Parts: sequence; C-alpha cells; structure tokens
Amino acid sequence: MKLPELATDLARQFQRIYGRTPRWFVAAPGRVNVIGEHTDYNDGFVLPMAIEQYTVMAADISRTSKSITIHDVTVGETATVDVSQPVEKGLPKWSNYVRGVIAGFQQRGSKIPALDVTMLSTVPIGGGLSSSAALEVCTATLLETATIKKLDPIEKALLCQKAEHEYAGVPCGIMDQFVSVMGKENHLLLLDCRTRETKLVPVTDPSVELLIANTNVKHELGTGEYAVRRAQCEKAAAIMGVRSLRDATAEMLESAKGRMEEVVFRRARHVVGEIERTLHAAEGVRASNWLTVGQLMYASHRSLRDDYEVSCKELDAIVEIAEAIGTAGGVYGCRMTGGGFGGCAVALVKANAIDGITEKMEADYRQKTGIEPAVFVSRPAAGATVLRS
Ligand code: GLA
Repeated sequence: MKLPELATDLARQFQRIYGRTPRWFVAAPGRVNVIGEHTDYNDGFVLPMAIEQYTVMAADISRTSKSITIHDVTVGETATVDVSQPVEKGLPKWSNYVRGVIAGFQQRGSKIPALDVTMLSTVPIGGGLSSSAALEVCTATLLETATIKKLDPIEKALLCQKAEHEYAGVPCGIMDQFVSVMGKENHLLLLDCRTRETKLVPVTDPSVELLIANTNVKHELGTGEYAVRRAQCEKAAAIMGVRSLRDATAEMLESAKGRMEEVVFRRARHVVGEIERTLHAAEGVRASNWLTVGQLMYASHRSLRDDYEVSCKELDAIVEIAEAIGTAGGVYGCRMTGGGFGGCAVALVKANAIDGITEKMEADYRQKTGIEPAVFVSRPAAGATVLRS
C-alpha cells in the first residue's frame, strides 16, 4: 500500500477510536542496507536506502488527558505514556521506542503536549528492515510537528539512536536512524559513520531493481551476539593501537595477527574488508557497474557468514539460490542485510527478470527450508515525511 492509502486507512481508525478526524499524519520508512554491514559502530561506511515500507501515525492534540495515547492498529494494542512527568520505560514492550524518543525531547527542554495517536506499520516487525528505527523516527517526526520545532536531521537521528540504546537496550549503530531520517527517493545513502557526512548516490538505471527476501526467521541469539561483536571489534582496534577499525588496514591487521585471538582477527578482517567493499560498491552504483556491485555483495555475504558469523542457514539458502540463478537468470548479487541471525537478504537484479526470480526464490526457499518467505521489490524511498500538518 502507498502512503496516501495508509493515511486514509489510519484516519478511518482514528475516527473510530477517538470520534474525530486527525490533524496530522507523519511517516518514517524502514531500510535495507545494500552493503556495509557491521561497519557503522566501527566508524566505517554504510550504503543503505529507505524502503517503501513505513510506520505511519495519525494524531491530534488530546483535550482530555495528560498522556500520549497510541493505539497500534496493526497489533491492536494501546500504550499510554504520561507526558506530564519525565518519561520512563514501561509496557507494552514496543512502547519503549516511543518512550525513549519522548524522553529525548523532554531532555532537550521541549514541552510535550498530550496527544491521541493511531499507528500502523508495514515494516515487518523483527524482519531486519529496521521496524524499530521507523517507529522511533516516526515518533520524533510527530513530536517535531506537534511542538512546531524541527530538529537538525543529524540530531534527530542521534536522539532516536539514544532512545534505542537506553530504552530498548539495543546497542545499535547509527545507520538505521540516519537513513530513516535522510533517505531520498531513487538514491542510496553513503554515510560516513565517523564524520556523519552523507552523500546521495543516485540509482537511475531503470534496468535494475533491489529485491528483498524475508526469510521469516529470527534467531533469538541476535541481540546478545551483536554486543559480543562490538566488543570483539573494540578489542581488535585496541590491540592495533587505533581508535576504531576504520583506522586499520589489511596490512596492519596481518602484522597484528600473532597478537590476536583467531576469532578477533576474523571479526576485524570482516570489518576492514567491508569498509573497502562499501566504498567500491558506491562507485559501482554511480557508474551503473552492476556486475561489480553484485560481486561485492556476494563477497560481503561470505565475509559475514565465515568471518563475522552472523548469518544463518536460512539466509545462506537465499544467497545460494540467488547464485544458482546467476547473472544469466538476472541476479547480479545477493547478501544478508541488517544485523543477521535471520531477517532479510537483499539482491540486485535485472528489472525485466523480477517475476521469474521471485517465483524461483520462493519455490526453492520453501523447498530447502519448509518456510514460506516473503519476496518483494522496493525502490529507494524518501525519509521521514509529514503528510499533512
Ligand atoms: C543493526 C543495527 C545497525 C547496524 C546493523 C549491522 O541493524 O541497528 O546499527 O549495526 O545491525 O550493519
């Protein structure tokens, strides 16, 4: 469903629940990372894009309460957040993303009005497409609108990241929130996670599309392992005497090999290689050099699977199916995307072969794993928007 249709649907729900029409609509997209995985918290580069899947909120000032009341029509749950005092963690669990963002605005000295809100999300929850960043950035966009005070985009993204760290307990990097705020239609976002400088990389060649394949599995060890990877990267950087792995080269790593545990060495080898691959891929996209970009995506996947060990058999199955289809069948490259341990893979494909590739991917994945996948195309979408204010 397109954004205006989602807004219409949500307005109807708002009318049903609160008995009037909403005043504002805001939306923030999920993301898919084309390449540059587990590099953001190492001060490296990432190359994601916003997708045409969104969290959308309809809202109005509440005349009767001291709270922000959010009814999530997707799951049929309501969160009530008292904004007359400093907001703390609470239930339902998903409300912590919202609570963290409200708290961030409070800490900046904003007076938060009581609001009635309905919300829906088309970003698959837990699918590795940053449903949480979409929720945070959507909340921040609503608060900007309701307080009539726009934040600087970088500050906005960082406020959302802090909410995720402190209220959801996930030590994520900055990629997801940045692209949900700053994504642009028909562009990838090359983000330097050290300087926070962003460059838009146009994808204008109509002969290619990005296909997203959701494995529909989420292995529980994800969050714990993420923190372990971060610590291993910091250890490797400390052994080499650099501030972060962004400052390390393959040669430096090779000469420090004897002083590192084997596993720490492999983690660092992934990050150092992935930062280079990301810069090459951005050049490849600019030049519409799809064969090169595709090869870099496969190399990224192998490195995430073997050195970084964040893939899983379902993600590997998708990539193997993509490789078997090959360039002759219209697939240039494929890799897992996001944190790993389930979620989605992303493939760079020929636009005129999409139907055949989708069908084959679905059938072969079903046959290999017994699980029903969801395979779909997304054009690079715009970041957070106010649909009406
Ligand atoms: C998760 C995090 C991001 C990033 C990716 C891995 O999606 O939220 O910050 O670290 O994993 O690239």
